[in-house]
Amino acid sequence: MVIVVAALLGALGAPGPAPAAVPDRPSPTMRELAAERGLRFGTAVADDTALADPTYAAVLASEFDTIVPENHMKWALIHPGQHTYDFTVADAEVAFAETHGMAVRGHTLAWWNQNPTWLTSGTWTPAEGTALLEDHIDTVAGHYAGRLAQWDVVNEGVSANGGGRSYLWSQLLGYPDYVDVAFRRAHQADPAAQLFYNDFGIERPGPKFNGVLDLVEGLQDRGVPVDGVGFQAHLTLQTCTARCTNDFLTNMLALDRLGVDVAVTELDVAVPLPATPDKLAQQATVYRSMLAACLLAPNCHTFMVWGISDAHSWIPSARPGYGAALPLDEEYRAKPAWNALHDLLTTPPPAPTCADYATRPLAQAAFEAGIEGAPLLDPDGDGTACPQLPASLAASTTVTTTAPTTTTVAAAPAVAATPTLAG
Ligand code: XIL
Repeated sequence: MVIVVAALLGALGAPGPAPAAVPDRPSPTMRELAAERGLRFGTAVADDTALADPTYAAVLASEFDTIVPENHMKWALIHPGQHTYDFTVADAEVAFAETHGMAVRGHTLAWWNQNPTWLTSGTWTPAEGTALLEDHIDTVAGHYAGRLAQWDVVNEGVSANGGGRSYLWSQLLGYPDYVDVAFRRAHQADPAAQLFYNDFGIERPGPKFNGVLDLVEGLQDRGVPVDGVGFQAHLTLQTCTARCTNDFLTNMLALDRLGVDVAVTELDVAVPLPATPDKLAQQATVYRSMLAACLLAPNCHTFMVWGISDAHSWIPSARPGYGAALPLDEEYRAKPAWNALHDLLTTPPPAPTCADYATRPLAQAAFEAGIEGAPLLDPDGDGTACPQLPASLAASTTVTTTAPTTTTVAAAPAVAATPTLAG
């Protein structure tokens, strides 16, 4: 009865404490645990009537502290006619978040997909295109100004080879010119929001990730405000090898060296159906590896899954034959992936020593020890990197110590242009 009442209060948006967790998930809640680690733990909010479902609302408000509208801030839904905006559903989602003390990520201001037909079927000059993009950003980012923590300003703008994706905005305004326009305009419309570039397939090193690094460096060189890069992280069981945490962390640290944040923005791990216990155990490893990397990276403070439960996942329709992609099952019960995340957040692990780093890949040792990012390269806290660290890494990495000061690790001779972690 208590649970039912709490759930109803949650659904009605009543102020006060978050409703009690429904059974079958470990306590404390993930929201509480993440907060203790200084991490935001969030999810995409399913469309339409989801918030009116008392159980959905109760789980959302008790287990998560950040939401992102899964669809209702995209052009097609929020800007359905050239002179028409529809904020109804997005407003309700933002209001729910505010009632329950949750943060909101905005998604997204410039994307190749889910654009309205009036926009994609129109014929526009470059000047008209610029005005359309700017007006949209002024209106939408302006509508929520001061209320969103982060915006995915540009989504999926880099192609697999690292160049700019060819679509409406790059064709009309040029690449990376339209990215500059979008970020500058978003900053003007909502100076308080952190502005992110967001993409898939950039969780591991490769040409696409290098293209994103180039894009961020270019934005910085041109004085365009950019605060972070979102790793969508739509993953599969094949994503992870033994070097998984290492690879995720390598990319996060590369962005840390540019002085920008990273966020895990849309994590799910698609399982080929049927989902057997073995596959769910493998899935838990992938989830755990991504959280470990985020905890290890000093610039990762946001960790979002793409949907609350397997009943609210886009995977079965987007990838026929796959499913069970989220950490909670269709009844909101904890799967091995949920327990793995919970365990990693629960157990305060000892910091690794230089001896640990000598015998295992850097991130692997740190992952096993479960440490947070701070002492990553300086476990002894003496301001120097472990002697066993690859020189390429030690040469170019700034270590944030547990003290409030920042110490630059003494540079060793670089042996590679692109730093990589040992593994
Ligand atoms: C997906 C939604 O989950 C679906 O409901 C919708 O039909 C298509 O878009 N990358 C993104 C998200 O940035 O916006 C996408 O969301 C998933 C891939």
